[in-house]
Amino acid sequence: QMNEVEVEAFSTPSYACQRRTTLDNHNAVLTDALSLLAENAELSDEDGRGVAFRRAAAVLKSLPEPVTGLTQLRGLPCLGGHSLRVIKDVLENGASSEAEATKQSERFKALKVLTGIFGVGVKTAERWIRDGIVGLQQLQLSERPLNRAQRAGLRHYEDLNRPVTRAEAAAVAAVVEEAVAAVLPGARTTLIGGFRRGKLTGHDVDFLMTHPEEGREAGLMPKVVSWLDSQGFLLYQKTTRNSYLEAKDGPARPPSNMDRFERCYSIFKLPEEARRGGEEARRGAEEAEPCSGAAAASQVKGEGPKPWRAVRVDLVVSPISQFAFALLGWTGSKLFERELRRWAGHEKAMSLSSHALYDNKQSRYLRASSEEEIFAHLGLEYVPPSERNA
Ligand code: GTP
Ligand code: MN
Ligand code: MN
Repeated sequence: QMNEVEVEAFSTPSYACQRRTTLDNHNAVLTDALSLLAENAELSDEDGRGVAFRRAAAVLKSLPEPVTGLTQLRGLPCLGGHSLRVIKDVLENGASSEAEATKQSERFKALKVLTGIFGVGVKTAERWIRDGIVGLQQLQLSERPLNRAQRAGLRHYEDLNRPVTRAEAAAVAAVVEEAVAAVLPGARTTLIGGFRRGKLTGHDVDFLMTHPEEGREAGLMPKVVSWLDSQGFLLYQKTTRNSYLEAKDGPARPPSNMDRFERCYSIFKLPEEARRGGEEARRGAEEAEPCSGAAAASQVKGEGPKPWRAVRVDLVVSPISQFAFALLGWTGSKLFERELRRWAGHEKAMSLSSHALYDNKQSRYLRASSEEEIFAHLGLEYVPPSERNA
């Protein structure tokens, strides 16, 4: 008598925005492999494949326990043949040979290093690689013309590729809040992005600013930026104007995914004292700072350790009427956002952006003053930020 082993299959809805995905990932080995292949696809101008791997990884991230056998995956959405082969490889051999080979490939390594420079995209990195530039030193020696962002990115390469901690994010928040309070009393600053989702580290720190009275937020960004600059907090900044209000092209049309808030991509100079403000409260001051090789070298040269670090900071300003949409749109994760827009379009005939929600059937915009209301408009159960880590 054959006894089939009872294996409980997971059941999972197919859109990431219908699921709750915490940072507690029980399938990290699998999702690391799939995420690496996604990244490689994105670096190779194969966005479709990239999204497919991201969706597969997101399904595994949402599972309540580790996957131990392929049979458990029966009926799960978003697992295409390629992703399943990767999963099978990891389950049987402990690692994905494709992911490992990718990680070792010269092309992938070069693309990672070069796109790791702030201001360098895939197109630029590919052009350089074609010309034989595969590393930072070669780039510097080549004397390629670099734009202002890329020069700043290269200058602060090490700092900007070191994860930002929560304590550092808190220190940046204190600075941004001081700036906002100084230039527009009553304005509000909200931490968005990965740190709002509870991540312990990030590649940058993201903030959304608004004012409770509609219109009072106008002109806030340049004032904040010049305050920060005058206090010596900015190593680099590029502010883009809001073109949403200026676009007077006739009747309301569904908003595009490209958003047009006033925003600022910047590099902060975060002083050591400010950085430790948050940390010291937690771990006590008795612990000595570890002395890095670079710090040791500069001490030998008599320079002393660098008393600050560079941190990428994104600032966005929205009018209060669009605040909930901006908050939802900039909290992420990127895949969660993508899935929300896909759900809205495919399942609800609505267009969601970081400005508004447009109902194509009713031909009107749906108002919302909270994220909860937007989920309700979309016919979705509310998912709090800490469960949007798809
Ligand atoms: P790390 O910074 O890597 O820790 O993760 P993160 O989730 O904070 O990523 P990131 O700072 O790149 O982006 C934060 C959120 O803002 C994500 O959900 C993005 O989708 C969103 N975002 C980033 N850039 C843009 C943009 O140009 N327009 C819009 N609408 N959203 C953006
Ligand atoms: Mn971020
Ligand atoms: Mn960001």
